[in-house]
Amino acid sequence: MIEVQHLTQRFGDFTAVDDLSFDVRPGEVLGFLGPNGAGKSTTMKMITGFLPPTSGRVRIFGEDIARQPVAVKQRLGYLPEGAPAWGEMTVLGFLRFIGAVRGLSGNALSQRLQQVVAQTELQEVLRQPVHTLSKGFRRRTGLAQALLHDPDILILDEPTDGLDPNQKQQVRDLISNLAEDKIVIISTHILEEVSAVCSRAMIIARGRKVADCTPAELEAKSRYHQAVAVRFQQPVQAAAVFAALPGVTEVDEMENGRSYLLLPQPGARLYHDVSEVIDRHGWQVDTLHIERGRLDDVFRQLTGI
Ligand SMILES: Nc1ncnc2c1ncn2[C@@H]1O[C@H](COP(=O)(O)OP(=O)(O)OP(=O)(O)O)[C@@H](O)[C@H]1O
Ligand SMILES: [Mg+2]
Repeated sequence: MIEVQHLTQRFGDFTAVDDLSFDVRPGEVLGFLGPNGAGKSTTMKMITGFLPPTSGRVRIFGEDIARQPVAVKQRLGYLPEGAPAWGEMTVLGFLRFIGAVRGLSGNALSQRLQQVVAQTELQEVLRQPVHTLSKGFRRRTGLAQALLHDPDILILDEPTDGLDPNQKQQVRDLISNLAEDKIVIISTHILEEVSAVCSRAMIIARGRKVADCTPAELEAKSRYHQAVAVRFQQPVQAAAVFAALPGVTEVDEMENGRSYLLLPQPGARLYHDVSEVIDRHGWQVDTLHIERGRLDDVFRQLTGI
């Protein structure tokens, strides 16, 4: 497992990562969320041993990365921010080179190459120099590089950044499939991605951990958690009726009375009363549903933006 203890990074007077501690176990997919400059990438660089911490330490399967860098890095795959270096190499040349650095050769290398090229759908660009690739293909080349030696731990800094919607979905599926026996840490700005692939979400703001829970628990912190959204077939004057229901704190009217959003008091369950009052008035409903909560709302609340 990964043990992060009091990890801190200072650049001059500025503290980018501030006394961060947490553990991650096999099977977990941990998502780092946080505003630009929060310290996500810096934390990942310290976990992977690319940046020595100012203080604190990282242990991976019991080994201190600062003391056993080579042994520990063999068990790590890392997709850094941005594009792979060595842009003059072809994709295939680059992946072969990385494979060699990782100690793979012969059949084992060919097999792994075939596998990761298929997983990241790089077939059509294998002979192209990396610097001529589109952003999405560069990202996928970086991802292939991280997967090549089939590491126990994957640290992926914004793995779906720049990918088209189909590829985003494919990479999310790939991460979910890999995750069963591995430790995966990803960072992302796509909040839905956390619900889609992560078993655990950590929000970082100004270098500090401000939330660490499951995506569902994060959604439950939203004022929209258990809100009831209704859309009628035609506009209806329902605001006063909804506002009078027990447990309703706010009624938002949209589309000139065609849709409404009812926010609950903490813990209140509104659905039953709402559907009853709609039936009683004979209002014709187009859609009626309960909201899970909105991660963007929780994110704003916790990061103070
Ligand atoms: N080498 C460095 N020297 C000085 N400051 C740095 C250095 N590396 C990072 N920083 C600063 O540390 C802070 C955290 O940066 P980091 O890249 O970790 O943020 P992030 O959470 O990954 O942001 P983003 O969402 O934009 O990728 C930023 O204010 C950044 O400018
Ligand atoms: Mg970053």
